Amino acid sequence: MMTIATVILAAGLGKRMKSKRVKVLHPIAGQPMILYSVETARRLPSDKIIVVVAHQADAVKEVLANRPVEIVHQGRPLGTGHAVLQTQSLLAGFIGPVLILNGDVPLITVETLQSMLKIHRDQGADLTLLTATLSHPEGYGRVIRDPDGEMIAIVEEADATPVQRAVQEVNPGFYLVNAPFLFEALKKLKSDNAQKEYYLTDIVKAAVRQSRKLRAVSAQDPAEVMGVNSRMDLARTEKALARRIAERHMREGVTLLDPETTWIEADVAIGRDTLIYPNVRLEGMSRIGEDCVIHSHTRISNCRLGTGVTVKDACVLAESVLEDGTAVGPFAHLRPGTVLHKGARIGNFVETKKTEIGEGSKANHLTYLGDAVIGKEVNIGAGTITCNYDGVNKHRTMIEDHVFVGSDTQFVAPVRIGRGAVIGAGSTITKDVPPDSLALSRAKQEVKKDWAKRRKKVKGKR
Ligand code: UD1
Ligand code: CA
Repeated sequence: MMTIATVILAAGLGKRMKSKRVKVLHPIAGQPMILYSVETARRLPSDKIIVVVAHQADAVKEVLANRPVEIVHQGRPLGTGHAVLQTQSLLAGFIGPVLILNGDVPLITVETLQSMLKIHRDQGADLTLLTATLSHPEGYGRVIRDPDGEMIAIVEEADATPVQRAVQEVNPGFYLVNAPFLFEALKKLKSDNAQKEYYLTDIVKAAVRQSRKLRAVSAQDPAEVMGVNSRMDLARTEKALARRIAERHMREGVTLLDPETTWIEADVAIGRDTLIYPNVRLEGMSRIGEDCVIHSHTRISNCRLGTGVTVKDACVLAESVLEDGTAVGPFAHLRPGTVLHKGARIGNFVETKKTEIGEGSKANHLTYLGDAVIGKEVNIGAGTITCNYDGVNKHRTMIEDHVFVGSDTQFVAPVRIGRGAVIGAGSTITKDVPPDSLALSRAKQEVKKDWAKRRKKVKGKR
């Protein structure tokens, strides 16, 4: 395979986004837009990948920090042609084809770029351009052809005549150009156009003038070439990517009852025969095992779920581990550092944080467990609270295997409950409890016989 050099354009601010943040750092499916182009480029045989930056250059560089790319500063971004020209010194001596990618068209596939490369090589072209035919070409440069169908120019929308605007064949922003011709043409660009910019697209006219060999490859899937210029484009792209990711998981054997409302970020992995209800978000590096069931209105970020885990409706799970056969929800909140060992259950309105729950243990109702280590087969009664914070420091609650905690118990940490102990309902536990004992700390109940009856008589009621 002929090697190429790749240039990714990421210097523009993206005025139409109306954002403090540079456009290429806006996330799509949880990942900054620029990383899509970079990761796609990495799958091609590139000698080097150069990213052109200007606006918020440091922030863009930080996002690219551990990627094998070189960075070029554009200074003042004077247009896409000016941007590519900045790579000249880094590409000195390189005579192969330069692949140029607009950094704001994230869904391009490596297959499409490979087909461009194949045509470019097989036909010995000087310039190969990707084109797409869209029913709504607004916002894109239009591909202008002569009566014989030969491509003769790309005209930006701002410069187009009404007849040119009616053209539906557009330039999505992907070019292969042989380096010597590219830099020679870039140096001759002028900015006498509606936007007073040096347009990369003007190299098409230069190629025609010099009778260079031009080729166009048409993109098959319009979703691939969606450019992000506005928040509307961002939403469309997010949706198209969500659909693409959802289909990948369905092909691999995951059931999504409603792919339209299931949002799965790019790096999430899901095992076969897992069933996902509508309106679920799976984020970050989450790993979901096989045969899990995830009900609606749940968000899972950076969690690891084993096999056969059930998450009932309306749960929020973050940075937690749920081993095989565990069950959570409805309405549970597992905060970072929660570990549920095999078969453990967390029920309604339970919040956990930095807490480990042993095999087969349960906390089924209205509970807060923070900084706690809970052993096997423990039953945590409704309304149990670990008082882990004294206003200054956090303290741990240790509950050993087979403990039974009655309802409405407070554990004032630090405190340790020995194996097999029983805590009476309504207790405030401030001291360690030895194994196999009963701890009770509630006031003794008093009963005043006939007291209520007497009161009613006084008030004249029956
Ligand atoms: C560009 C194309 C247009 C095409 C569209 C497709 C030109 C002149 N026009 O228009 O034909 O249909 O992309 O997506 O190329 N950038 C720089 N430095 C600059 C200006 C831009 O690096 O000085 C970067 C931007 O960060 C962005 C990309 O180049 O990633 C495209 O810039 P943008 O301003 O969005 O160009 P479009 O108007 O969309
Ligand atoms: Ca654009």
